[in-house]
Amino acid sequence: MLRAFFMNTPPPNLKAMAAQAALAYIPANSIIGVGTGSTVNYLIDMLAGLPIAAAVASSIATAERLARVGIPVVELNRVSQLAVYIDGADEITPQLFMTKGGGAALTREKIVASVAAQFVCIADHSKWVSQLGSSFALPVEVIPMAEASVTRALQAMGGKPITRPGVLTDNGNIIVDVHDFIIADPVDLESKINNIVGVVCHGVFAQRKADVALIAHPNGVTTHT
Ligand code: 5RP
Repeated sequence: MLRAFFMNTPPPNLKAMAAQAALAYIPANSIIGVGTGSTVNYLIDMLAGLPIAAAVASSIATAERLARVGIPVVELNRVSQLAVYIDGADEITPQLFMTKGGGAALTREKIVASVAAQFVCIADHSKWVSQLGSSFALPVEVIPMAEASVTRALQAMGGKPITRPGVLTDNGNIIVDVHDFIIADPVDLESKINNIVGVVCHGVFAQRKADVALIAHPNGVTTHT
């Protein structure tokens, strides 16, 4: 009997658990920033019917999903500050530094996050790492004509850059993923990669890191500040 009970219990949906925990960080009737990815998709679906004035989307896909659940989507240029920005991550450290951009939306994500009073990161425990670069390649958005020169510059910094095949960002640029790139000093590296001519933006989120991380484990969600 007990065996039958456990066999029929589905595994917990960790991404949905993290998303659910983020709802407590949304002030009533506020304008919020919404990230991109499979974890955030759970959040968007949970926003239906909640008292939210409007949302700024970090990608076309997110804007379309928000509209489908009835949340008004506004352009960032019409908003001076967002109460909160909620997004996933590819990696996050105990210092709340992140790498992002697995979904190629990193530039708009960084822009929207930059005007938010609070950044809430939602993720399952597989994203929790002691050092950035240990489990995920670093995505860099690059102007297409600079692909070769930026690739050489990233190689000179010690990484193994590989252009993501068949991907164009919402801004019409390419993504170069930098593999085997252990990131010892995220704040410093963020500036250094920003300084490569031809780089639009990249996925190290250290200078504007998360304020809160909600990390889902099979037995619950832990909060990190
Ligand atoms: C998209 C992102 C995502 O937040 C990141 O890739 C995590 O995605 P997911 O929630 O699907 O694991 O940065 O550009």
